[in-house]
Amino acid sequence: MATAGSAVGLGNIWKFPYIAGENGGGAFLIVYLICVLIFGLPLLMTEFIIGKKSGKSAFGAFQALRKNKKWQWLSWCCMLTAIIIMGFYFVVTGWCFHYVVAAVTHSFKGLDTGAFSEHFTSLVNNGGSMFAYSLLAVLLTAIVLWFDVNKGIERMSKILMPLLLLMMVLMAGRVLMLPDSNIGMKFFFQADFLKINPQTVLAAMGQSFFSLSIGMGAIITYGAYMPANQNISATSLQVVVLDTLVAVFAGLIIFPAVFAFGVDPAEGPQLVFVVLPAIFEQMSFAWFSGILFFGLLCVAAVTSTISLMEVAVAFLTEATEKTKHPLNRHKSVLVISAIVLVMVAFNGISLTNDGTWLCWEGKNFFDWSDMLSANIFMPLNAFAMALFVGWFMDKKDVRNQFGKQDSWLYRIGAIYLPLVRFLIPLAILAIFLNGLGIL
Ligand code: PHE
Repeated sequence: MATAGSAVGLGNIWKFPYIAGENGGGAFLIVYLICVLIFGLPLLMTEFIIGKKSGKSAFGAFQALRKNKKWQWLSWCCMLTAIIIMGFYFVVTGWCFHYVVAAVTHSFKGLDTGAFSEHFTSLVNNGGSMFAYSLLAVLLTAIVLWFDVNKGIERMSKILMPLLLLMMVLMAGRVLMLPDSNIGMKFFFQADFLKINPQTVLAAMGQSFFSLSIGMGAIITYGAYMPANQNISATSLQVVVLDTLVAVFAGLIIFPAVFAFGVDPAEGPQLVFVVLPAIFEQMSFAWFSGILFFGLLCVAAVTSTISLMEVAVAFLTEATEKTKHPLNRHKSVLVISAIVLVMVAFNGISLTNDGTWLCWEGKNFFDWSDMLSANIFMPLNAFAMALFVGWFMDKKDVRNQFGKQDSWLYRIGAIYLPLVRFLIPLAILAIFLNGLGIL
């Protein structure tokens, strides 16, 4: 449940629709689903194996398994990726908090999509208030890690996540009754294969990694806490199915509404924040639905920020363990929160009208963090992790992680190994070089 909590988050409900919208809808969906199957499932297992076998976080895992420090650079790459993601992820979590408040005060009553768009623009331009909302999200996450109340969160998400999915099913039902919703359905489900280009494939691969929290050590860290008798294949499959279901439902809600309300599907990061309030205005119990949905979205976001920050906190605690100045869990939480807040400030400022100095090549700091982490860092880290398990770990050790010898689960290990040794690294490399125009 904790891993599902890490996977299901803003990546599914905020990022997936906007990336799919920018990359042609249906064509993107097909490539995305293929990426989830080919990369998602085996790579989730890969991180679980590294974490479970070593019992260590992203910092100590590779070292413990190889008994030398040659793979330490990969630990640092994971840490760097976690920090970059947190910088923009907390900003978007802050937006969600703001939308809960806006829903409670019913600020959207009677407005149209143009006004929702203006609302969003004025929100991101108000740097101080933006920062306050993100600070709230950072504090909440830090408190959970400080008091080590992950268990409580896990129990809570057992109830709230199915509720989120149920709510999304209801919303999809309502949206499909809107006029012109069929245009959106076509956009999302009809694949125009001519629209698939190397960048679409790179974006789809990156999105599948981001959505499943693969390639930055979160799953390694959670794998380290995994009970010995827990089945890696079944857990990975459940996480993949749930995560993909939530993303597809998000698309099913957003795209019909996008066309019904005349919004541009390629609008970018603000897409869902313009479309969702418009949907609630159409629903019965508008006020209550808005609060409930944005509230649940905040919970989904925070279960992801917990796993993001846990990577960095566990890393710092382990990294300083044997030094002159060891940082215990509490001190690590403070240090990481401070670093994250600096990153949040840069991300936030880059979105305001005064933030042009934080823009390069037509993209601001926020866009760069978003794009670089998912499309470059996560695939490269995952590439190295696949090679690590495939070539540098004992084959028997790896296969034993799947289940008892002679059981059918054990046989999955036989399919898994060639995947991480050959297919996955080669495929990642090809998509990567192709997407960057090098191949
Ligand atoms: N998977 C999360 C989401 O979809 C984001 C995330 C990425 C969380 C990496 C942890 C690690 O929102």
